[in-house]
Amino acid sequence: MCGIIGYSGPLEAGSILLGGLSQLEYRGYDSAGIAYFDTSSKVHVVKKTGKVARLKETVEVMKASSHCGMGHTRWATHGGVSDENAHPHRAGRVTLIHNGIIENYHSLTQEFHLESQLISQTDSEVAAWVLESFYSGDPKEAIRKLAERMDGAYGFCIMFDDHPGEIYAIRNVSPLVAAYTPSGALIASDLTALIPYTKRYFVVPEQHIVKLTGYKISVFDLDGARVMPEMLEINWNMDAAMKNGFPHFMLKEIHEQPEAMKNTILPRMTKGLPDFTDDGIPDQLFEDCREIHMIACGTAMHAGMVAKALMEPVLRIPVTVSIASEFRYEDPLVDEGTLVIIISQSGETIDTLAALGLAKSYGAKTLAIVNVKGSTIARESDYVLYTHAGPEIAVASTKAYSVQLAALYMISCRMSLVRGKFTREQAEAFLTGLLDAIPAMETMIERQLEEKHLAAHLIQQHDTFFIGRGLDYAFSLEGALKLKEISYIHADAYAAGELKHGTIALISQDVPVIAIATQEHVFAKMISNVREVKARGAFVILLTKEHVQIDEGLADIHIKIPHLDDRFTVFPIAVILQLIAYYASVGKNLDVDQPRNLAKSVTVE
Ligand code: M6R
Repeated sequence: MCGIIGYSGPLEAGSILLGGLSQLEYRGYDSAGIAYFDTSSKVHVVKKTGKVARLKETVEVMKASSHCGMGHTRWATHGGVSDENAHPHRAGRVTLIHNGIIENYHSLTQEFHLESQLISQTDSEVAAWVLESFYSGDPKEAIRKLAERMDGAYGFCIMFDDHPGEIYAIRNVSPLVAAYTPSGALIASDLTALIPYTKRYFVVPEQHIVKLTGYKISVFDLDGARVMPEMLEINWNMDAAMKNGFPHFMLKEIHEQPEAMKNTILPRMTKGLPDFTDDGIPDQLFEDCREIHMIACGTAMHAGMVAKALMEPVLRIPVTVSIASEFRYEDPLVDEGTLVIIISQSGETIDTLAALGLAKSYGAKTLAIVNVKGSTIARESDYVLYTHAGPEIAVASTKAYSVQLAALYMISCRMSLVRGKFTREQAEAFLTGLLDAIPAMETMIERQLEEKHLAAHLIQQHDTFFIGRGLDYAFSLEGALKLKEISYIHADAYAAGELKHGTIALISQDVPVIAIATQEHVFAKMISNVREVKARGAFVILLTKEHVQIDEGLADIHIKIPHLDDRFTVFPIAVILQLIAYYASVGKNLDVDQPRNLAKSVTVE
């Protein structure tokens, strides 16, 4: 959550900071602010509630000149949305921005007698004052002492009044990446802010102090020794982080799915079979385990639900899916015989990261499916399988979900092969089926007609229900989440047979029910469930494969996907569900890419 950018160099800092904040805004958008040294080395702070565009108007009016500064876009945790709670925070000679949560802020407030000094309600301002109290002219020494006292997650960028032209940073858990570029030194909470300037960057090592000046970046450990960080290469270009003519990032990212699928699957295919040699993932990992435990949050967790429904019947071993925020406080049943699959687009979701740590402490082998290269989860897992979706900017996950599924499908196939559950021919046929899903997705992306019409109906209603059986139920969970998060329409997903155990009481005239019926072995049962809701007046939207015959009047809208093997229908269905949510949000004139109360990366509990 919260976007951070810092810059020192020859260019005008204001435009770099504001441009960077616009790129990072998807991380949080309650308020934004910048701090900078002016040409006479005086520190100025400008901060405002609302989006970066509002901050820009103020800063442009000021027409300030600067070559060093830092900016922040906030997702409120401690303290409401107000100008005072916006970052940067000033504390004596210290100016500080923060991403994360300081858990012991209350006791620090008392210990350092800060009650009367604090202007905001934030934990971040407490950190700024604690730092000020340690500061006696040596920034690194003060930061080292600060780190000793901080409990929680943080990425801090700091300016000291008497060190003009310099930005200092330190992190614990919360991400920071940095680069020295021909345009100057940059640090940010994620790569999207760096790609206009460089392809080479490094991940700031935890508990290391970074110093940016106009001509270099230095990294020190907490004993003051210089450290050379490992340089990484960005494999995205600027286009990947721009809308490129689409009205919203979400629509662009929906369109990018077929390409993202190919990028994730094709490099891992050898002679028609999945092959993870280049990822360094040995077959033994799949052969040895007695069970699989998937752990993730939100959309990524829903990808795990699909994988469970896919894998268990073939592999014949238990596959469990856990919500990371629950798992991390459990005494889980995992051990050396468990393969824990961690799924995360960002690779920095705090609950998922904590769950990974817990699983490791129980001796489980961990394999992460992650989109962001070099992210914390990727680095801390035993093995990592990167998805190649490129940057996902819209808060609502779309292409990341499809490629997480693609990765899980490939794992399922490889595992079935090495455990003797698939013959070579079956594995090849499975992979062919997966590839066939890509043109089916393209077809659904091109059509989009029914979804617009349907969204017009949905936005008149307060509730929507998604029903399905087996794999279709697993897909419907994601459909409901998508609709809720960007259209603010209440939506729930139910196993179709479960509806009559309570929820059917909510079905009345015109309540939309989106029924997914792509699984042949339960098709007839599904149709019976559809009849039950239709009989109670529901407005039925039925999703099936083409060539399926249904009785007239059963569905108000019937959306058909191209014919596919049942195991792969999730891919075109996902496109339909994403488009339904998208057009519902557009129809309500909402902020599609940055829905209220949300942020892209959830780096706080
Ligand atoms: O970055 P992660 O995949 O770990 O994020 C997990 C969830 O926060 C995320 O999938 C969220 O549910 C989606 N953005 C919703 O569309």
